[in-house]
Amino acid sequence: MVEQSLWMRKVAANPGHSSWYIERFRSMARAGDDLAGEARLVDTMVPRRARILDAGCGPGRIGGALADAGHEVVGVDVDPALIEAAEQDHPGPLWLVGDLAELDLAARGVDSPFDAVVCAGNVMTFLAPSTRRQVLERLRAHLAPGGRAAIGFGGGRGYEFAEFFADAESAGLEPDLLLSTWDLRPFTEDSDFLVALLRPRE
Ligand SMILES: C[S@@+](CC[C@H](N)C(=O)[O-])C[C@H]1O[C@@H](n2cnc3c(N)ncnc32)[C@H](O)[C@@H]1O
Repeated sequence: MVEQSLWMRKVAANPGHSSWYIERFRSMARAGDDLAGEARLVDTMVPRRARILDAGCGPGRIGGALADAGHEVVGVDVDPALIEAAEQDHPGPLWLVGDLAELDLAARGVDSPFDAVVCAGNVMTFLAPSTRRQVLERLRAHLAPGGRAAIGFGGGRGYEFAEFFADAESAGLEPDLLLSTWDLRPFTEDSDFLVALLRPRE
């Protein structure tokens, strides 16, 4: 067993948290908001009909958009209510409940590795801090040689970018390209958001 994620601690403190989050994204979708920016970037990184892991997929907006673009998607999230919503709202991908710190998809009979891993929407800052490095190791273990991970999260949320870079390095993930937005603006020392495109160290 690993330390409980900060997200599930929030859910334990407020059992309505998951349904609030699901409804928030459903109402944005009804309003026609653009919920696929991260998916568009990841789509440019892979060949057609690629295998993509949506790590911390929540109710499935990113994996759903990538499946609509023709990719084979597996989404994993620790919150069962969000996985149920992903199954309802975005049928097609394989949606699985699981903690990323213990991710071993081959052991669950799921083909591994993946051409890309996307971990968006501040997932990194909702992990139990003691599991961050382990999660990065598990993501790396699910990447094919030549594959890449796209990991995005905001500053000021308790996980310093410098600490993340050190954890990624120790997990065997090297920066390929550092951005500050999902629409390709460069990362600088003043950036308050990070989108890191990382490749497994050979
Ligand atoms: C803000 S939501 C983002 C959801 C989705 N990536 C998106 O951008 O729409 C953060 C997600 O991280 C997931 N999460 C947090 N810790 C996790 C863990 N240890 N393993 C798997 N998922 C986790 C939560 O359950 C939640 O769905």
